[in-house]
Amino acid sequence: MAALQEKKTCSQRMEEFQRYCWNPDTGQMLGRTLSRWVWISLYYVGFYVVMTGIFALCIYTLMWTIDPYTPDYQDQLKSPGVTLRPDVYGDKGLDISYNVSDNRTWTDLTHTLHKFLAAYSPAAQKANKNCSSEKYYFQESFEAPNHTKYSCKFTVDMLQNCSGLTDPNFGFEEGKPCFIIKMNRIVNFLPSNGTIAPRVDCTFLEEKHKDSQPLDVEYYPPNGTFSLHYFPYYGKKAQPQYTNPLVAAKFLNIPKNTQVVIVCKILAEHVTFDNPHDPYEGKVEFKLKIQK
Ligand SMILES: *[C@@H]1O[C@H](CO)[C@@H](O)[C@H](O)[C@H]1NC(C)=O
Ligand SMILES: *[C@@H]1O[C@H](CO)[C@@H](O)[C@H](O)[C@H]1NC(C)=O
Ligand SMILES: *[C@@H]1O[C@H](CO)[C@@H](O)[C@H](O)[C@H]1NC(C)=O
Ligand SMILES: *[C@@H]1O[C@H](CO)[C@@H](O)[C@H](O)[C@H]1NC(C)=O
Ligand SMILES: *[C@@H]1O[C@H](CO)[C@@H](O)[C@H](O)[C@H]1NC(C)=O
Ligand SMILES: *[C@@H]1O[C@H](CO)[C@@H](O)[C@H](O)[C@H]1NC(C)=O
Ligand SMILES: *[C@@H]1O[C@H](CO)[C@@H](O)[C@H](O)[C@H]1NC(C)=O
Repeated sequence: MAALQEKKTCSQRMEEFQRYCWNPDTGQMLGRTLSRWVWISLYYVGFYVVMTGIFALCIYTLMWTIDPYTPDYQDQLKSPGVTLRPDVYGDKGLDISYNVSDNRTWTDLTHTLHKFLAAYSPAAQKANKNCSSEKYYFQESFEAPNHTKYSCKFTVDMLQNCSGLTDPNFGFEEGKPCFIIKMNRIVNFLPSNGTIAPRVDCTFLEEKHKDSQPLDVEYYPPNGTFSLHYFPYYGKKAQPQYTNPLVAAKFLNIPKNTQVVIVCKILAEHVTFDNPHDPYEGKVEFKLKIQK
């Protein structure tokens, strides 16, 4: 007790500390002799060399097993997601409304379409192939430049009246707007057994519209099909130039001044649209209100 309570002067403490740092009597530095410090350092150097080696070996074997041309961790999603342009979101999903008589309410919408379709201009698609067969475009080897695979052209003119070329307003000012439907890509996905191309089918969702009059749609390309030659998609590294095929739907009989709900589904053998957890799987639903 007495020792603990004993007051040390400041210079005593300094001296003790100095002795701790370097004790000339025992030749100890920070409580250990120089040779012990050398041994401890060597131990840690060895330890970290071994750990780094094990870590590098793990990374190396991991890299060895993965193929850069296919993603390893594709999620469980089997059916592709579907997206819509123009895309304006309200409180609950896609909600598009505009006033035919007021072009300020729809120029943003047509602008979105023009911007989206810029990736499908003939110049942007220059590197891609003209494909005409209605079959899957399987490519075993990498025959395109720089060890890649070819992709098929999808040019904006294939959307005809919804291309923005003949009608830059995409039918918005006449109340018969064009919407563009895009199916998201899934590596190695084949939509059907290879005989029937997937196609888009748009209908009114609500019962009351079903009773009165079915939705009248013009599809571009004709029949609203995604040609089979755009499948399979081999991944970003194998097909850097790939662009998703599109289908445009021009709605001809939207009732004015009321909100309607439209659903566009992808009809194909291997596409499902009844996943309750993902409302955008295999289909896209949106509200549309055209005022006049
Ligand atoms: C649509 O725009 C016109 C012209 O600006 C306007 O007179 C009309 O009231 C608008 N309609 C609706 C439903 O807001
Ligand atoms: C919108 O309408 C106004 C008046 O009708 C017109 O002056 C203007 O040029 C139109 N703008 C576009 C982008 O069509
Ligand atoms: C693809 O088709 C376009 C128009 O039909 C033609 O101008 C072009 O030369 C073709 N390109 C190839 C590589 O065949
Ligand atoms: C191939 O790669 C080289 C170098 O990255 C690039 O300059 C060239 O444009 C590429 N060729 C094609 C056809 O993409
Ligand atoms: C495109 O629009 C024009 C003019 O509105 C029409 O005559 C033609 O039938 C349309 N094309 C198709 C394929 O529906
Ligand atoms: C592919 O499926 C269609 C119907 O979905 C069927 O008529 C056709 O015989 C099938 N073809 C093959 C090769 O299985
Ligand atoms: C559209 O579908 C009809 C009937 O299924 C078929 O006769 C026609 O050839 C198709 N048109 C095109 C351009 O695929």
